[in-house]
Amino acid sequence: MKIMVVGGGGREHAIIKKLKENKTVEKIYALPGNGGIAVDAECVNIGAKDIEGITKFAKENTIDYAVVAPDDPLVLGAVDSLEAAGIPCFGPRANAAIIEGSKIFSKNLMKKYGIPTAAYEVFDNVTDSLEYLETCKYPTVVKADGLALGKGVIIAENKEEAVKAVFSMMEDKIFGDSGTRIVIEEFLTGPEISVLSFTDGNVVVPMISSMDHKRALDNDEGLNTGGMGTVAPNPYYTKEVADECMEKIFLPTIKAMNEEGRTFKGCLYFGLMITSDGPKVIEYNCRFGDPETQVVLPLLESDLLTVMQAVTNGTLADTEVKFSDENACCVILASKGYPVKYESGFEIVLPETDDGVIYVAGAKKDGDKLLSAGGRVLGVTATAPTLKEAIDKAYALTAKVKFDNGYCRKDIGKRALMGK
Ligand code: AMP
Ligand code: GLY
Repeated sequence: MKIMVVGGGGREHAIIKKLKENKTVEKIYALPGNGGIAVDAECVNIGAKDIEGITKFAKENTIDYAVVAPDDPLVLGAVDSLEAAGIPCFGPRANAAIIEGSKIFSKNLMKKYGIPTAAYEVFDNVTDSLEYLETCKYPTVVKADGLALGKGVIIAENKEEAVKAVFSMMEDKIFGDSGTRIVIEEFLTGPEISVLSFTDGNVVVPMISSMDHKRALDNDEGLNTGGMGTVAPNPYYTKEVADECMEKIFLPTIKAMNEEGRTFKGCLYFGLMITSDGPKVIEYNCRFGDPETQVVLPLLESDLLTVMQAVTNGTLADTEVKFSDENACCVILASKGYPVKYESGFEIVLPETDDGVIYVAGAKKDGDKLLSAGGRVLGVTATAPTLKEAIDKAYALTAKVKFDNGYCRKDIGKRALMGK
């Protein structure tokens, strides 16, 4: 089989490595891929948002199956376009990807179908937003409606910060059109859990749970990033919590999307917070999380391609999705200065190792050399029988990487260990 994976980060590297385990896979193309992915797939210089280019490539190269991984092409309709060209795909159509593409859509969906989430108000102008900020409780959370590279959420400790957030989104347009409308919502507290799930619109099969570390610095300080590391499973995701999530969140969401005529097929990501009132949805993503995928897929024992095809064909109920009972930890090595300003072009030397796997997120090839080319550069992942061992192994492997301009958090998994 010839497979095409759209995207070019650590998540896509993890997906590609897993797909390669299937013996029927002869060739994988990555669009655009990156310098590290090039070891495992043929990278083609077509951007993930170039829907026409992606579709044309798939047709010309008689691709048998396509996986669209990032949010942008999904929201822009890459799956619709590929399906129209007769190419079977993994990923939701645009009318379902809106569950991530518009926070207002997802909040209204949850309200309409009684799915637990933070209380909220929607605004389309500065005046009304400011009026609301006079009376609301602090901290409060200001969110841009549209996609914003995972950065469209500002937690405002007080009115001053909230006013600044509103102006930056609605007037200064720091997130472009994504901030034309905003959501202001109740600040929730509690441990966060990421649950990626496979769904074909009929059933929903949660994958092993994980915990992301979104802030740039240790002890959850510094700015929000795309994610600085993950562990799986998440110890706060007990059997009791899992059952409650299935009943009150996962199944109702799948049903709600069907009722809206927006059947979701693909990987639906539930970003959850375990509050004193029970689990609530912080966000939905219409795709695999990054770097959640880098700890979830190494623990998947079933064949990924078979599961993905079952999602496409609507036969997920008859397909086994099995995870190992080990633990995994992924430490992100990022460029110094990320998520604000950073330099690229630094040489990276990866160790030869069987003690884990290094997913490449942001790097390019320069002859035989690998050079950094992004904010998040590597995802250093290890698995082990216990969480503590997985964390220690991931950090030991991180120490063997040569990347002078890199930094990582030193406390990935610390909170999870306390939750044990
Ligand atoms: P998001 O981009 O929606 O994942 O939000 C980024 C991060 O902001 C989340 O992982 C949470 O840590 C935090 N966050 C978002 N919404 C809320 C909320 N209502 N209450 C508390 N924290 C939140
Ligand atoms: N790690 C969070 C995300 O993928 O959105």
